[in-house]
Amino acid sequence: MFEKNKLSSPIAEFNGVSFRYGNGGDVLKDIQLTLQPGSFHFMTGESGAGKTSLLGLLYMNHLPTRGRVRLFGKAVDTLSRAEKSQIRRQIGVVFQDYRLLNHLNAFDNVALPLRIAGVKETEIKRHVSELLTWVGLEKQIRAFPPELSGGEKQRIAIARAVINRPQLLLADEPTGNVDDAMAKRLLYLFLELNKLGTTIVIATHNQNLIKHFKFPQLHLSHGHLEYIATPATRSGNTTEDN
Ligand SMILES: Nc1ncnc2c1ncn2[C@@H]1O[C@H](COP(=O)(O)OP(=O)(O)O)[C@@H](O)[C@H]1O
Ligand SMILES: [Mg+2]
Repeated sequence: MFEKNKLSSPIAEFNGVSFRYGNGGDVLKDIQLTLQPGSFHFMTGESGAGKTSLLGLLYMNHLPTRGRVRLFGKAVDTLSRAEKSQIRRQIGVVFQDYRLLNHLNAFDNVALPLRIAGVKETEIKRHVSELLTWVGLEKQIRAFPPELSGGEKQRIAIARAVINRPQLLLADEPTGNVDDAMAKRLLYLFLELNKLGTTIVIATHNQNLIKHFKFPQLHLSHGHLEYIATPATRSGNTTEDN
């Protein structure tokens, strides 16, 4: 379904990064992080631990309050608007609240990144149909987001994020609204993308997925980041996304 990526320098580097909203306290504290190309991490931690905020830094939704973030080798605080857009085009994002366009049907939502990239309509039709079928939405292809369930919208958001085979995929609790069998199927989709070179970070609370796939964890606790190489040894977390 996808072709192979080739990159060798780090995808993301955080050096002493702290982040706060407005005048509040630091929600991320002195984060050191290197994401190597082709790596696959779960991001874990309780609700409020800072997962969405850290993903927001990786997507340049926010700039750090202290320290430096580099994406694809470039310091994000030095980028022009055009450079930011150019980098964002290499990043696929599944937002926690999906952010689909309600006036476009499922097909057109997923096709959007390909249309922006100038891909031919015949190619678009083939890729989008194949992917929507893969995520079990072949019957909903012409449906508009307001007519769809949370789990269906979530799968459209996932399809849109992966359709143009980004260098980096950021997914914020992407299986929170689907059953366990579908959650695993979606993880296999991410895994296929990863095998072809995409670097992946998935925020999740789903212990079944964490235990099954055994990817290392970026674990956040009160804004501090801890790297966990052996997820199978952890216990005591909840099994639901939230
Ligand atoms: N837009 C915002 N303005 C102010 N505080 C926020 C905002 N978004 C998140 N926070 C706070 O930042 C902390 C981390 O939140 P978040 O990154 O959403 O955590 P998680 O995704 O792990 O649940 C929480 O204390 C949350 O209340
Ligand atoms: Mg969150």
